[in-house]
Amino acid sequence: MSKDILSARADFPILTQTVNDLPLVYLDNAATTQKPQSVIDAISHYYSTTNANIHRGNHTLAVQATQAYEGVRKKVASYLNASSPDQIIFTRGTTESVNLVAYSFGQAFVKEGDEIIVSQLEHHSNYVPWELMCQRQGATFRVIPFDENGELNLQDFRELLTDKTRLVAINHVSNSLGTVNPIEEIVRIAHSANVPVLVDGAQAVQHLPHDVQALDADFYAFSGHKMYAPMGVGVLYGKKEWLEKMPPFQSGGEMIDEVTPTRVTFNVLPYKFEAGTPNVADVIGLGAAIDYINQFDFAQLQAYEEDLLTYGLDLLKAIPGLKIYGNPKHRSAILPFNVEGIQHYDLGILLDAKGIAVRTGQHCTQPIMDALQIPGTVRASLALYNTREDLDALAHGIQRVIRLIKR
Ligand code: ALA
Repeated sequence: MSKDILSARADFPILTQTVNDLPLVYLDNAATTQKPQSVIDAISHYYSTTNANIHRGNHTLAVQATQAYEGVRKKVASYLNASSPDQIIFTRGTTESVNLVAYSFGQAFVKEGDEIIVSQLEHHSNYVPWELMCQRQGATFRVIPFDENGELNLQDFRELLTDKTRLVAINHVSNSLGTVNPIEEIVRIAHSANVPVLVDGAQAVQHLPHDVQALDADFYAFSGHKMYAPMGVGVLYGKKEWLEKMPPFQSGGEMIDEVTPTRVTFNVLPYKFEAGTPNVADVIGLGAAIDYINQFDFAQLQAYEEDLLTYGLDLLKAIPGLKIYGNPKHRSAILPFNVEGIQHYDLGILLDAKGIAVRTGQHCTQPIMDALQIPGTVRASLALYNTREDLDALAHGIQRVIRLIKR
């Protein structure tokens, strides 16, 4: 039987804390989620019992550490429904996963006059690496704009796709507005023009179904720390047909086959892209986080989070002077807003004084803020352990700040 979602909160020790003498209401999950005890224990257990360098030693601990690390690769492959663990590369996070592709794919396949398409809804981590790659390679950087609802117009996308387009890089869910992009359709349209797609799944893989084969994504990137795993570990999934043709991103130990003064040959996938000693403990933490999520019925988890989001949006909409940004048909886990007459930063600080953690600012999405012509927003973001009471506390907290400032 699957785990009851309402029991999740008790698994996260940090959530029992008080902040500024009030119970913590943690609504900054798009920045990072909290970690369940099982993830904390897995890391501690690894360092207490198993710690050794992997793929290099033949002593007992090295073999156990290697098996544990490679076991997580299989777990990630299964979580994403990848056809093989060799397609799973461990990285530091989404940013490194995107940079890997931007450098390596760029070097192999992008030349002067080519074009790369991203969207205006991207986090800087899926925007700047492509912009810089275009500068390096002499390619043209194209951006699909979003409309007044915070949605991408697929007709605009079709018009940007040309026979010079080499890659499309798009997030599944916008970290700033929560827009769920029609990613299946975007992949289908790009593939009909023989263009590969990188999907930034950082805000999706923990909230929405994640099947890279069904999606047919060429690359899929995400971070562990936004899905209950530690910081400093992430994943790049790639189709073998691309990964095999791409040169290494970083070089050093583990990624090589033969090394002479005149010639270097490379290891097989995925090791070609994992130079140096990896972050073994946090990969093991990622495995524990996947085990944690897998205890739930994912469809129930998704329905629970969607219900929470609707509840929260309705509460916020009822507050006079509060503006919610974007009105997409499908939104996930993000509540972006401002209150008339109050700076987003001040509102964040005053909510924190009430124990409520939200993020304020540009959210690493200056192109979105520029398009909306605002300096920033307040963003509340959800995880599976949040409750309606958290959202009641947020709405109540905002109303108290409004009364304080406007009296
Ligand atoms: N990408 C993270 C966020 O959206 C840090 O807050």
